[in-house]
Amino acid sequence: MARKDDSLLNNLQKEHIGGKLCLITGATSGIGKEAAIGLLELGAQVVITARDIARGQAVQREIQMKSGRSRVELYELDLSSKKSIQEFVKNFKKRHKGLDLLINNAGVSHPQRKESAEGIEATFAVNHLGPFWLTEALLDTLQNNAPSRIINVASALHYRGKIDFLAGGDALARKENYSGLQAYNDSKLCNVIYTMDLFRKLQSKNVSVYAFHPGVVNTGLIRDYPGIVHAIWGLISKSPKKAAKPLVQLASLPDPGPSGTYFHGTKRKNPLPISNDPAVADQLRKLSESLG
Ligand SMILES: NC(=O)c1ccc[n+]([C@@H]2O[C@H](COP(=O)([O-])OP(=O)(O)OC[C@H]3O[C@@H](n4cnc5c(N)ncnc54)[C@H](OP(=O)(O)O)[C@@H]3O)[C@@H](O)[C@H]2O)c1
Repeated sequence: MARKDDSLLNNLQKEHIGGKLCLITGATSGIGKEAAIGLLELGAQVVITARDIARGQAVQREIQMKSGRSRVELYELDLSSKKSIQEFVKNFKKRHKGLDLLINNAGVSHPQRKESAEGIEATFAVNHLGPFWLTEALLDTLQNNAPSRIINVASALHYRGKIDFLAGGDALARKENYSGLQAYNDSKLCNVIYTMDLFRKLQSKNVSVYAFHPGVVNTGLIRDYPGIVHAIWGLISKSPKKAAKPLVQLASLPDPGPSGTYFHGTKRKNPLPISNDPAVADQLRKLSESLG
């Protein structure tokens, strides 16, 4: 993204995003919460989601207080459940015909293997499958408000991702030799592959699509890992507020760069080459649809 002085940047952002409808998942903590505050401060209308509605209401009040803005809607959404996603989309579409910005930010990292209610390995379910189903179900609303934008919060750990499970068999279930880190890396590679898939599919529809890596950030993502991981993380990580700044820029600048770009903070980077392979994207799409 082009560097401009802070006040000019801020005015450009306000002009572009002011009054627009932005949906951000995973805004109950970490990067998502700070990004929601940043978008509100720029004058956007923000929709947040929560698995636990009471917790969501507390965060909604906190976000309103910190931003000094009231335009925050809250919906219940559990990305590990297709039923919950369908219910959310139904409720969202009752109120809104269009959507200007979707930020798929919610994510998990589980040191121990878990399954979703539908029996799918939980990291894949929450980090890839849920956002896939959600995005596909909201494409009509994004097209209604085109030019519109999708940002998928991925990770530089996608460079260590593997997609052996696309070959079939039991690899996706990860019942043998589960590694939480590998499951996370693989799910983040799926985020980047899906971003490039969407970029190709939406090129003629005026919906731009980006993948974003926020850096190493001190959030709840590692909450289930042992103390030593927290200690190291505390030394190498930045604050969620700092990490959210380039995400808010990507969301709100009129022209942050060509659709289909992977951003590491504000810098454009080439993602893992396999992310650009349409045949791989088709395989991932077919697998994701077959699990629905
Ligand atoms: N932190 C880092 O260093 C880092 C680095 C690279 C990429 N990222 C990515 O950044 C994104 C945000 O993570 P974060 O670091 O801000 O972590 P975080 O503080 O743990 O926030 C994660 C958010 O995801 C939500 N979430 C978890 N499971 C969900 C589910 N089943 N359905 C709906 N929402 C769910 C959480 O909601 P609850 O409050 O209900 O748990 C929370 O709001 C993730 O995609 C992560 O992979 C983070």
